[in-house]
Amino acid sequence: MAARISILGLCLGLLPASAGAEDRIVRLHAPPALTQTGLLSYILPRFSLKTQVRVEPVDDPAAADIVLGAEGRALFEGAGQVWHMSLAAPGDADAERLADWLTSDIGRRTVLGYAPEGAALFSPPAERAVAVAVVEMTGDAVLGHDVAREKCTRCHTVDDDSRMSGIGSTPSFAVLRSLADWEARFAAFYALKPHGAFMIVEGLDPLFPDDRPPPIAPVEVTLDEVAALVAYVAALPAADLGAPLVHQ
Ligand code: HEC
Repeated sequence: MAARISILGLCLGLLPASAGAEDRIVRLHAPPALTQTGLLSYILPRFSLKTQVRVEPVDDPAAADIVLGAEGRALFEGAGQVWHMSLAAPGDADAERLADWLTSDIGRRTVLGYAPEGAALFSPPAERAVAVAVVEMTGDAVLGHDVAREKCTRCHTVDDDSRMSGIGSTPSFAVLRSLADWEARFAAFYALKPHGAFMIVEGLDPLFPDDRPPPIAPVEVTLDEVAALVAYVAALPAADLGAPLVHQ
């Protein structure tokens, strides 16, 4: 397997220079405590093989698209700590691809399946209580989930059930949630691109001009629904820890 991967790497490296413009690469920083476990050498080739996106380790966190460490969204636990992911470059499709993969069922199973000596080194993070406690719940998270499923899944992956819907290039809610300023983004998403062109918030003037009707049927939300969406998104990491989402 290792030989196959390096041959593939060579072939990709030999592509003509014109392919350089669409070089698909993500810069990842992880501290030695994590790289020394061998986990990254185990999981990243699997990701690259599947997506044709190369992952380049970088020493300087400031130069990375994704940083694994103590900040951001909790991914897994092992080697003495809980490992979090933070995304330095939201909007970078390849970085988001890796972030999505790391938080997906497949990515998680790959991490948990790493057992160099026959015993798994990593487990799901056990942080639930902390993650829930810091969030102030103002809206109705259950309503928020319904609204998200009804009005956002056309473009976004919202939860595990909508993983197959959405548009690949649109950031998933899981990825957006891992951004430090996720709350500001969700509280005002209707005014942020591209939503202004097709969203109507009850009681507010539409952001699109009269002579520029939306290219798709407008999506309507109320301010209560916006608060509910924020509450739902706030609870996302808690729902995502440990076992995959269970609906009963
Ligand atoms: C017609 C497609 C579409 C629908 C429907 C849609 N979005 Fe988006 N959304 C996008 C795209 C595309 C982006 C990425 C924009 C970018 O990267 O600049 C985005 C980005 C976002 C962002 C990040 C914005 C930013 O600038 O950081 C948030 C938050 C968001 N959407 C929330 C929602 C919510 C909540 C809903 C449902 C009520 C929703 N979206 C419905 C297409 C859509």
